[in-house]
Amino acid sequence: MNKFNFLSLSFLLALFVSCTTTGRQTNGDDPSRYVIRTEVPERPAGQKDVLGLVTPGMDTVRVGFIGLGMRGPGAVRRFTFIPGTRIVALCDLHADRVEKAQTILEKAGLPRAAAYSGNEDAWKELCGRDDIDLVYIATDWKHHAEMMIYAMEQGKHVACEVPSAMTLNEIWDVINTAERTQKHAMQLENCVYDYFELTTLNMAQQGLFGEVLHAEGAYIHNLKDYWESYEGDWRLQYNKEFRGDVYATHGMGPAAQLMDLHRGDKMNTLVAMDTRPVNIPEYLIEERGMQRDSAYQFANGQHTMTMIRTENGKTIQIQHDVSSPRPYSRMYQVSGTKGFANKYPKEGYALEGEMFGEDVTPDHENLNAHSYVSDEVKEALMTKYKHRIHRELEEKAKEVGGHGGMDFIMDYRLIYCLRNGLPLDMDVYDLAEWCSLAELSRISIEHKNAAVEVPDFTRGGWNKIQGFRHAFID
Ligand SMILES: NC(=O)c1ccc[n+]([C@@H]2O[C@H](COP(=O)([O-])OP(=O)(O)OC[C@H]3O[C@@H](n4cnc5c(N)ncnc54)[C@H](O)[C@@H]3O)[C@@H](O)[C@H]2O)c1
Repeated sequence: MNKFNFLSLSFLLALFVSCTTTGRQTNGDDPSRYVIRTEVPERPAGQKDVLGLVTPGMDTVRVGFIGLGMRGPGAVRRFTFIPGTRIVALCDLHADRVEKAQTILEKAGLPRAAAYSGNEDAWKELCGRDDIDLVYIATDWKHHAEMMIYAMEQGKHVACEVPSAMTLNEIWDVINTAERTQKHAMQLENCVYDYFELTTLNMAQQGLFGEVLHAEGAYIHNLKDYWESYEGDWRLQYNKEFRGDVYATHGMGPAAQLMDLHRGDKMNTLVAMDTRPVNIPEYLIEERGMQRDSAYQFANGQHTMTMIRTENGKTIQIQHDVSSPRPYSRMYQVSGTKGFANKYPKEGYALEGEMFGEDVTPDHENLNAHSYVSDEVKEALMTKYKHRIHRELEEKAKEVGGHGGMDFIMDYRLIYCLRNGLPLDMDVYDLAEWCSLAELSRISIEHKNAAVEVPDFTRGGWNKIQGFRHAFID
């Protein structure tokens, strides 16, 4: 290179560096200026957190169910297999749905339950009964928070389908009620109990992936065949009104447990983006005869992505897509310093050679994490690291069913912990964190994908418990 070329190259390089530095200085004088913050209400005086909440154990958990549409009756059926439970009351807007659920009890040889139906507020009578310990809610999303809050105020523990709260206001109201009443408020997130997820969580907790730095999750499920089945079209209408990831908990749950959220780490900021909606508006035109202009007045993007960064420098990516013609996927990927796990479309593990341990022999070509281990090695790992919950419950769960057994395990664990006076696997802050994506991702998207601060829903307690663990009596 001649002298001139060398000098001009150095000059250009220096100019580039100074431009980028100057650029950074102009935009980044105070990075926190560019983060949108939402209000964190002060904890009311006299109220304390419910981290690690334990309540007196009980021999029998007496349950009332609200919401007996597509999801609710399966829960009633599963409860007929759980020892130490009594199904006391059943409620739905429609009397025939309550009656249908009564037949589940009859078939199981159990007494009929008290029936509530016929008006919007019949569920309040159920909550007011003095012979119920737990209210189990499987209604549409707009009723969840109101029902949970009312039930807790009536002295009941609550378990509520996903997502249990849709807005930050609802989330703070649910947290405040749980803290004020010192009642359990558990979100019924079943995917954290699926076989691959729970086994992988166990592997991660035993250090098999080194330090987990990144996790992914999603709800990718084309709901075209289901839209017509929801009571009063609530689900499509909700998507019509709201942008953002309105159904994030299936992706968030397993990732959050891996990352020990509010058990040593916390989410700090997120950014979200979506595509424009196409398939649902087209469905509305083709299947429901809607005018093009109104059909395209549809808020929820076809594909929504949210990226989250945590206090400990980790990331989570969550996706939502309920209308693209894609195979079902919750993604579920775990990326650590020593290994990797992937659930969809094919389950697999990749590990650095030293992580296999003595009793699992890696394939020769898989002494590093460059490719997946063979199916045989994967099976050997999954057997070795089978979670205690699966060791104890897998057989029964497969027999009872419910998404392959994970629904039964979820209900069983809820009852096991309540009966034994143990902290539940999922507390009200999990509920808050996983549900908060709905509104926080909407805020980001509606502000040109700006960074949004994720509130500390524990209000200062996120580091009190170290590491997520399931509780057992022995
Ligand atoms: N975890 C999972 O895998 C999973 C799967 C499916 C659905 N879900 C969740 O379950 C919930 C219910 O979904 P679904 O598919 O059963 O919907 P759905 O529309 O079939 O059922 C909702 C039921 O709630 C009843 N309801 C509404 N308002 C009521 C009121 N005021 N009082 C009493 N009953 C009332 C309706 O009559 C209806 O029977 C949703 O939150 C959904 O997201 C979760």
